[in-house]
Amino acid sequence: MRTKIELITLAKQMPKAELHLHIEGTLEPELLFKIASRNQITLKYPSIDALKTAYKFNNLQDFLDIYYQGMSVLLTENDFYDLTIAYLAKVHAQNVVHVEIFFDPQGHLERGVTFEIQINGIKKALDEAHIKWGMTSNLIMSFLRHLSEESAFETLELATPFLDKIDGVGLDSSEMNHPPKKFAEVFKACRKLGLKITAHAGEEGPPEYIWQALDILQVNRIDHGNRALEDTQLTAEIQKQRLTLTVCPLSNLKLCVVDSMEGHPIQKMLQLNLNATVNSDDPAYFGGYINENYQALIESSDLTEAELYQLAKNAFEGAWITTSEKTCHLVELDKMFQKSPPYLYT
Ligand code: HPA
Ligand code: ZN
Repeated sequence: MRTKIELITLAKQMPKAELHLHIEGTLEPELLFKIASRNQITLKYPSIDALKTAYKFNNLQDFLDIYYQGMSVLLTENDFYDLTIAYLAKVHAQNVVHVEIFFDPQGHLERGVTFEIQINGIKKALDEAHIKWGMTSNLIMSFLRHLSEESAFETLELATPFLDKIDGVGLDSSEMNHPPKKFAEVFKACRKLGLKITAHAGEEGPPEYIWQALDILQVNRIDHGNRALEDTQLTAEIQKQRLTLTVCPLSNLKLCVVDSMEGHPIQKMLQLNLNATVNSDDPAYFGGYINENYQALIESSDLTEAELYQLAKNAFEGAWITTSEKTCHLVELDKMFQKSPPYLYT
């Protein structure tokens, strides 16, 4: 049996896919101040340290209030490029080989930053990471659920010239009182356009919101999904549909979705045969990127080598990539775990 230190090393070294990552949530305080200064924006916080002390959250809304303030420094294509390339460089060093990234267009449009500026800056960095490191990516446009469905439709309209650069749509921001059914029509339009569908559900919201994501939005996966565990019929349905759950351990801890890392339900999810994965959500705000999320889980649970393998495998299987791309990644993953190649993806 491997020791915890060996498991943490393995988690760091293994090839990984990250499926739940808000690019605006990777804005580290240092870069935030640098961009604010070049854009001549005066921040509410006098220093990096003062800003960091504000990173204490009792719930999702506490975090979102700071998250929207932070992203307000982003104005130019270069700002979006700098933000994205900094994240990609960091996770390339953590052996991430495939990323699926959310961005929140409405959070920038309302400040006068066009869709074109946002997507060109992000895409330039994604293309560069592909050329330099062979890292692959998908881009997910997320609708802000505290805004109206009409606003989501307007955003989809603005996205139309760029749909070749967008792989899927998501639903994020304040979950309570903004159920998935509020967005039934716009997600139907997105499905018709051939976009993949995901939605944050069951982070704070009840199992009913996850049912709506499944039945009404017809999601291809679920972001978070923690509260699915309260409903055995729901977990059976998620299992039946082989839906991936993009779980975010440090985020859950920092937003008080769980009381302690020891009490995190991810092992329970695996035991129920749910396709749970490990992700960082908003790493600049929650104290760690993907490797730190794995490390926190290993340190505070009896996660086994087989479970670690399953978590990494689930991420490649849940990624929006081709079957042959999945097979290639799983071959590399198996080498790390000394399973006999070739691995056959079924
Ligand atoms: N939940 C909902 N919306 C978000 C999050 C989150 O964890 N991060 C950024 N937007
Ligand atoms: Zn999220």
